[in-house]
Amino acid sequence: QTSSLSEMIAATSTDVVKEIPKKLTVLFGSHTGNSEALALNLATLAKENRLEVEVFDMASFKTKELKKVDNLAVIVSTHGLGDPPIQAEDLYNYLHSKKAADLSHIKFSVLALGDSSYVDYCKTGKDFDVILEKLGAERIIERIDCDVDYEDNAAAWQLNFLNQIKQMTSSVVTIENASSDSLSPLQYSRKNLFEATILNKINLNGTGSSKETVHLELDLGGSGITYEPGDALGVYGTNASQLIDQVLTATNLSGEEMVTTHKGEKTLYEALTDDYELTPLTKVTLSKYAELADNGELKNTLKDNAAVVAYLSGRDILDLITEAPFEFSPDTLISILRKNTPRMYSIASAQEAVEEEVHLLVSVVRYNAFGRDREGHCSTTLADRLDVDDKVKIFVDKNTRFKLPKNPDTPIIMVGPGTGVAPFRSFMQHREVAEKKGLSWLFFGDRNFTTDFLYQTEWQQYLKEGILTKVDVAFSRDQTEKMYVQHRMLESGKELYNWLENGAHLYVCGDATQMAKDVDLALKQIIQQQGGVTIEKAEEYIKKLQLSNRYQADIY
Ligand code: 2AM
Repeated sequence: QTSSLSEMIAATSTDVVKEIPKKLTVLFGSHTGNSEALALNLATLAKENRLEVEVFDMASFKTKELKKVDNLAVIVSTHGLGDPPIQAEDLYNYLHSKKAADLSHIKFSVLALGDSSYVDYCKTGKDFDVILEKLGAERIIERIDCDVDYEDNAAAWQLNFLNQIKQMTSSVVTIENASSDSLSPLQYSRKNLFEATILNKINLNGTGSSKETVHLELDLGGSGITYEPGDALGVYGTNASQLIDQVLTATNLSGEEMVTTHKGEKTLYEALTDDYELTPLTKVTLSKYAELADNGELKNTLKDNAAVVAYLSGRDILDLITEAPFEFSPDTLISILRKNTPRMYSIASAQEAVEEEVHLLVSVVRYNAFGRDREGHCSTTLADRLDVDDKVKIFVDKNTRFKLPKNPDTPIIMVGPGTGVAPFRSFMQHREVAEKKGLSWLFFGDRNFTTDFLYQTEWQQYLKEGILTKVDVAFSRDQTEKMYVQHRMLESGKELYNWLENGAHLYVCGDATQMAKDVDLALKQIIQQQGGVTIEKAEEYIKKLQLSNRYQADIY
């Protein structure tokens, strides 16, 4: 479909486009590889339409080259916590510095990727958008902010952007289809979900544990889906009927009302089960709600990010309806809710080892806040609402930024407390099947040794086989003082530094808010002490590791 259309466009172009279009530069700053994939896709589409195009990773783009840029597409993701991806940092800082040059020769637009369950949704893209305009560049189409399910919006922006450029150079040809749509319909993807059967489900925590961590085995049989160690699985959850009932009661709706959602016509009850999220509450929902309810207090809260974070924390839509009630129609209700969005879980298996299966390690979220028990949307779907033999909608989310070293003899250091250990099980399974025995060192941590040592016997087996060289564990609640993975790293600082000096790759997976930052600090300290260098030199050392893909993080 697409290729014939492109051919048609190409054929028409030869006849009518006399003027040679100006060059398109695509800059991407990728966190897991999605921005990169979109950048390459845009370039392909541009080339098919006879635009001269260059694609650069922001990390390797020289700022002096900005002089030569005509049309510019910026495709950039944002870390959950609002930071630019490491690859985008230098360009980001340059544009925000006094050194930044005038850019009034540039026409641009920004595609921002993010996750709207975080308050700083798409912040990096928004910042690029603002600073480019401030430096004189002309925005030719509005920035688009894309959530976790970015495909349709991103494709629409690509078309719009290329059409705009084409129109500026020749007024005849319209680009009508994106290359991303040319995937064979038989291939399962984000847009064409596979329904995987649950084969096995076990709570790995022992009796009496304060945690609930579920190991799941899903059947990919017949799907043709492939994945690699380091990739994630996107999983669609549903809302708990209890919460739906409470929302319906609070809004005086029955659930029998018919509504039209992005998935078609159905009852409100069905829509609230499958098509929208009732938890967590997002800033976008809060803003829409404040406007609709014309609520001064909420509008005030929205002026201050810290206040927004404080308000959202522990709350869901039911709190908002209860605290700031107003008259709802079924359509108003669904118009303020976030579309049901997949959760990404780092895959815990290697396909070479488990063949047509994929394994996940899911921390089940349950807590009490404001006097009501709360549940994580997707984790409790898997823990409570689905059983063995039930099906779950999934897709593979490639992560090109969390990959084993190409050379299987390269030593690896893996830091993965809690569910952060999942990808390291896939690393070990992979190396076991490949019979590769490059040195490997695991730092694992959790609350209590007796109940929370996830996959304990498997690590022991890998040690015995020599697939795993070393394991250091930190059980935080087995003693009065907290003991965390970074403390174990510091204890072995000398050896860890030697591993790095010998070319080891370092991987960190798990909590982004605290753990990954503390691990990063510990690493800096180790390099400073063991390398006998200043803090600035240690930071440089770390940056070099990151930019050469020797220090990779999969944090959430
Ligand atoms: P805690 O819950 O006892 O504080 C997996 O969740 C493990 O990570 C738990 O042992 C948890 O300890 C620990 N953890 C919590 N905060 C951490 C931090 N800042 N750095 C490293 N580990 C942390």
